[in-house]
Amino acid sequence: MADLKCTIAGIESINPFWLASAPPTDKYINVVRAFEAGWGGVVWKTLGEDPPVINVSSRYGAHKDQKGSMIGINNIELISDRPLEQNLAEIRQVRQEWPDRVIIGSMMAQVEESSWKELAIKIAAAGVNGIELNLGCPHGMCERGMGSSIGQVPEMIEETTRWVREATNLPVFTKLTPNITNILWAAEAAKRGGAHAVSLINTVNSIVSVDLDVMAPNPVVGGKGSHGGYCGPAVKPIALNMVAEIARNADTQNLQISAIGGIETWRDAAEFIALGADGLQVCTAAMLYGFRIVDDMIDGLSNFMDEKGYQSITDFKGLATRNTVDWNALDMNFDTKAVIDPDSCIECGRCYIACEDTSHQAISFDVEADGTRVFTVVEDECVGCNLCAMICPVPDCIAMVPVENDLPYLAWPDHPKNPIKAAE
Ligand SMILES: Cc1cc2nc3c(=O)[nH]c(=O)nc-3n(C[C@H](O)[C@H](O)[C@H](O)COP(=O)(O)O)c2cc1C
Ligand code: SF4
Ligand code: SF4
Repeated sequence: MADLKCTIAGIESINPFWLASAPPTDKYINVVRAFEAGWGGVVWKTLGEDPPVINVSSRYGAHKDQKGSMIGINNIELISDRPLEQNLAEIRQVRQEWPDRVIIGSMMAQVEESSWKELAIKIAAAGVNGIELNLGCPHGMCERGMGSSIGQVPEMIEETTRWVREATNLPVFTKLTPNITNILWAAEAAKRGGAHAVSLINTVNSIVSVDLDVMAPNPVVGGKGSHGGYCGPAVKPIALNMVAEIARNADTQNLQISAIGGIETWRDAAEFIALGADGLQVCTAAMLYGFRIVDDMIDGLSNFMDEKGYQSITDFKGLATRNTVDWNALDMNFDTKAVIDPDSCIECGRCYIACEDTSHQAISFDVEADGTRVFTVVEDECVGCNLCAMICPVPDCIAMVPVENDLPYLAWPDHPKNPIKAAE
C-alpha cells in the first residue's frame, strides 16, 4: 500500500492532511477529535496578543449551487477569541498526548518587531512543530493593520517572516493572501524573509449573497453586512493556479508549499500535489462534513497511488508542474474535435443550443422519419472548444478526439501570423 507519510519544511507527518487554521482547530477538544479521526496535523486557530478579539454574531454566509449544495462559504470571523494562555496550555496538553501529530501555531500581531517576536517565542515554547504567519485575513484584522494589510505589501511580508525566523529555530510557514495582483511578489518576499514554506491560499474577498428583505450582505449583523473571506470548493481553481505559479517560477520553486483552498476529496489533494504541493490543509470540507472526511481522502489517495504505482507522495509531486506553461508555449498546430456517440445520446439538444448560440454553429440537428433527433458534429466548423462535452449531461457521450495532422509543434512566438515574427 502506498506510503502517505510526507515531510514539509523538515516536519514529518503521518499523512499530508492537516486541518487549516480556523474554528476546527480552535481548542483542545476539536484538535483531539481531529487526531482521533486520523488527521496528520493541525494549524491551530490564529493566536494574537491579549486581550483577545471579540467576534460578531452571525459570522458565515453560504454560496449554493442550483441544487442547494454548498460550493463556498464566507466568514467575517476574526482570530481566536480565547485568551492566549488558555490556547497555549491546550497546545501543551495536546503536544504531550499526541507526539506523532503535527501542531503548527498560527499567529498574527501588530506590525512591531517586538510584538511578533515575543508572541512567536511564547507559541514556540508551547511545543509546536512550526509557526505559520497569518498574513491573509481579509476582514476585521486588516482594518487593524494586520492580516491581509500585511500580506498585500511584499516588504511587510519579508519583514514579519524575518522577525519570526530570528525569534525561533522552528520552521516558518508564511501564509499568503490571494487578494493580491501577483502571488509571486508575495511568495518571493516570503522567501527573502527566510520562510521555510508558504501556505496558500487564505480566504478570498467576497460578498456571497444579499439578504433582499434586509437589503444587506450576508451574514447580516444587526441589519448590516460586510465583505468576508471566501473559501471551499469554489476557490480551488484560484488556489491551484497560485500554487502552480509558485511551483514553476524559477525564484520560488524551491519553497515548500502547504496547499490550501477547496480541498474536499482525494482527487483535489492529488491535483495540488501534482502541481507541486508538499502538504495540504483543509478547512471548509471539515466544517461541512465533519472530521471523518479524512478517511475518504486517505483511502482515495492511497488507492490512486497504488493504481498508478506511486509508492510515496514525492513520486508524483510536481509531475504536472512541468506541463503547466505560459500560453506562448502552447502548440498552435494541435487540433481536437468533438465526436458524439449516437448510442448514448439522449437527444436533449443542449450541445446543439450551446454550440449554435454561443460557439461555432458546429453541431447539426436532424430529425429522422421515426422522430429520432440526431446531433452530429460538423468537423470543419468545430474548433475543439470543449463546451459541448462539458455541458452534455451523459458522461462520455461527447469525446474530444485529437486530430492526426502530422504538423510540427509551433508556438505563437514562431507563428507566421504573429506580427512580431512577420516583421523579422
Ligand atoms: C470560519 C473560518 C475562520 C478562519 N479563520 C482563520 C484564521 O484564524 N487564520 C487563518 O490563517 N485562516 C483562517 N481561515 C482560513 C482557512 O484557514 C483557509 O485558509 C481557507 O478557509 C481556505 O481553505 P478551505 O477552502 O479548505 O476552507 C478561516 C476560514 C474560515 C472558514
Ligand atoms: S467543441 Fe465547441 S465548436 Fe466543437 S462542436 Fe463542441 S461546442 Fe461546437
Ligand atoms: S448534449 Fe449530449 S445527450 Fe444532449 S443531445 Fe448533445 S450529445 Fe446528446
